[in-house]
Amino acid sequence: MQMDWVEFLRQVTDHQVEHPHLWSLVGRGGDSYDYIQRNVWMTNNGYRDFMYYSPLCHVLAQLARTSELRPSTDVLIVNPNDGINWHQDNQNGPIDADYAIRWWTAMDACGEGKIGVPEYLIGSHRNQTVKDEVAVDISGGDLPRFTDCTEYVVQPGDLIVWNTRTVHRIRDLAQATPRESALPGSF
Ligand SMILES: [Fe+2]
Repeated sequence: MQMDWVEFLRQVTDHQVEHPHLWSLVGRGGDSYDYIQRNVWMTNNGYRDFMYYSPLCHVLAQLARTSELRPSTDVLIVNPNDGINWHQDNQNGPIDADYAIRWWTAMDACGEGKIGVPEYLIGSHRNQTVKDEVAVDISGGDLPRFTDCTEYVVQPGDLIVWNTRTVHRIRDLAQATPRESALPGSF
């Protein structure tokens, strides 16, 4: 993602955090994030413009090999305060996982020292073990065969795209980190 879009998202996010929406109080999972809000594209024209006019949807359409995308979930997350254990993303709405694609646009770097970084078990979307559940025990069923894990530091502007069935986690934040913001969602 070009840096002008990253700077645009940062400015929109700063404004959003300073002006919390009612929806940021719902489903926030305790204090896991300094700010979290679903459906920001419906309440803030900045995120809507990002989806409409940035390269995001063009890239996703190519990866999904489709000419049409429909947003089903988006969530703004700012400053995670703890990790998320191994899981697969539950799919909102009447959409089969085979027809969904998930994405993460980073506004800030994260993952230095493996802290706060999303980690994906490569190929795990082909597992035969996990059905509809969210939390995943990676020692169960055929999951131990997926031993390769992504390892990177996310940089501002990075776009991560994954199959909704890919097993992943967010590394615990073992120490104070600089500001981290990201806009994940799915189509
Ligand atoms: Fe996830």
